[in-house]
Amino acid sequence: MNFTLNSSLVTDLDTACLVIGVFEQSPLQGSAELIDQASNGALQQLINSGDVSTDWKSSTLLHGLDGVTAKRILVMGCGETEKFNAVRYDSVCMSAGTFLRDHATTSAHICLNDIGADRETGLGQPHWRIRQAAVNLGRANYRYTTTKAPKDDDNGPLISVSFNAGEEMQAALDEARGIVKGYQRSKQLGNLPPNICTPAFLAEQAIEIADSYENVSVEILETEEMTQLKMSALLAVGRGSANGPRLIVLKYQGKDKTSRPVVLVGKGVTFDSGGISLKPGPNMEQMKFDMGGAASVIGAFEACADMQLPINLICVVAAAENMPDGNAYRPGDVLTTMSGKTVEVLNTDAEGRLVLCDALTYSQRFNPAALIDVATLTGAAVVALGHHASAIMSKHDDLADELLEAGQTAIDRGWRLPVWDDYQPQLKSEFADMKNVGGMAAGSITAACFLSRFTTDQRWAHIDCAGSTWIWGGDKGSTGRPVGLLAQFLINQAG
Ligand code: BES
Ligand code: MN
Ligand code: ZN
Repeated sequence: MNFTLNSSLVTDLDTACLVIGVFEQSPLQGSAELIDQASNGALQQLINSGDVSTDWKSSTLLHGLDGVTAKRILVMGCGETEKFNAVRYDSVCMSAGTFLRDHATTSAHICLNDIGADRETGLGQPHWRIRQAAVNLGRANYRYTTTKAPKDDDNGPLISVSFNAGEEMQAALDEARGIVKGYQRSKQLGNLPPNICTPAFLAEQAIEIADSYENVSVEILETEEMTQLKMSALLAVGRGSANGPRLIVLKYQGKDKTSRPVVLVGKGVTFDSGGISLKPGPNMEQMKFDMGGAASVIGAFEACADMQLPINLICVVAAAENMPDGNAYRPGDVLTTMSGKTVEVLNTDAEGRLVLCDALTYSQRFNPAALIDVATLTGAAVVALGHHASAIMSKHDDLADELLEAGQTAIDRGWRLPVWDDYQPQLKSEFADMKNVGGMAAGSITAACFLSRFTTDQRWAHIDCAGSTWIWGGDKGSTGRPVGLLAQFLINQAG
């Protein structure tokens, strides 16, 4: 998808589709007002007669309006002016993107950035509006086709999109292009079936990214090297699978070598059967998205490289497949992790924390300015927050606040849960330094408590994206989240 700027008069533009926004309350504003004037009040009349809806997120396609050169006009309802805010703006942009994807349009000119332009209530600056519109159009433009024939009524993708703004907004489009790349990669990896998206496949993806940028390098560790490093927890999880585990290390240098890097760690369980503690059959196929954390840190890494942010960034992915097998690890096993701490396995389905604990120990060699892991770690995170927010856990208020704020800006929101020491006794084991499950109560928090034991003295945060990265049911598939939150966090680090 190609983003450009065009500040010519909207009524004179030669485009397949103009996209404008209208509020319930008159008078019409911005581009809508200009179009209404040029068409002798036709737009307002269509609204008055009910043919064009102003309801929030509604969309109406108009053809050949007099006085306007554009072939079509997509009118997005924005609802009540009083309720309009950044979140509503964001979802109007997403709805417009979905509409354009589903209708035969290969190019469009977006004027949504001028809706409510004179209002201050939580609506971002012009840069934010343009970027967010472009990001959402790019996100909506994704369609999974790798292993399935397109439907007859599938339209081609939206190819070129211009925005109603001048050259001074180029930086917003440059940001959007990077973020969209990251989202698209993350979604695609989340959606790919587990027989294609294996640990080795994730490693190949990292190599592909490293090959595309001069200041990116990659290192792939296989079983032998991980054995030397004593990563027994990660290796135990991968041992039941014919698709061996990988530790993927991507490095991006955007600043002098002495500058401490941000380190992002992703859970890359390419299929989570539960192992010997086998999961029930229904919905098990969806456990291919158990590498959603890895997909989003790889996506955010790619976004950072595309934007060439002036920071140092390292991405560590713990990739493994959790399968039952004669050689698989079992409940009762005691593992000696890379840190030297021992873990009694009570449930082989609590594997995410096991692959992460070794990856987190490994990551400390980079002396991170911030160490952030992202993982589809617990079903309890879905119970707590549903699909709207990622769960953010950290003992560091400043880091938690930075992540929450990044999520607010990107409209890829998180919500904080505590990691108080009060929860730590739930991990007590009779036979090891800790056990790998903390019981029914506060499942997401006790998982974070487990990880906290491997990140002492680190400026560390944990993001549980089990709910946000995947949509279950009807429109099921990967959302690519939290690429938006992570990319914004990295942009803020650069600024
Ligand atoms: N990958 C799952 C977590 C998960 C479950 C994500 C459902 C999304 C939807 C994780 O490995 C897991 O199985 N966690 C267990 C932990 C339990 C055994 C302590 C869980 O959440 O049930
Ligand atoms: Mn599991
Ligand atoms: Zn899992």
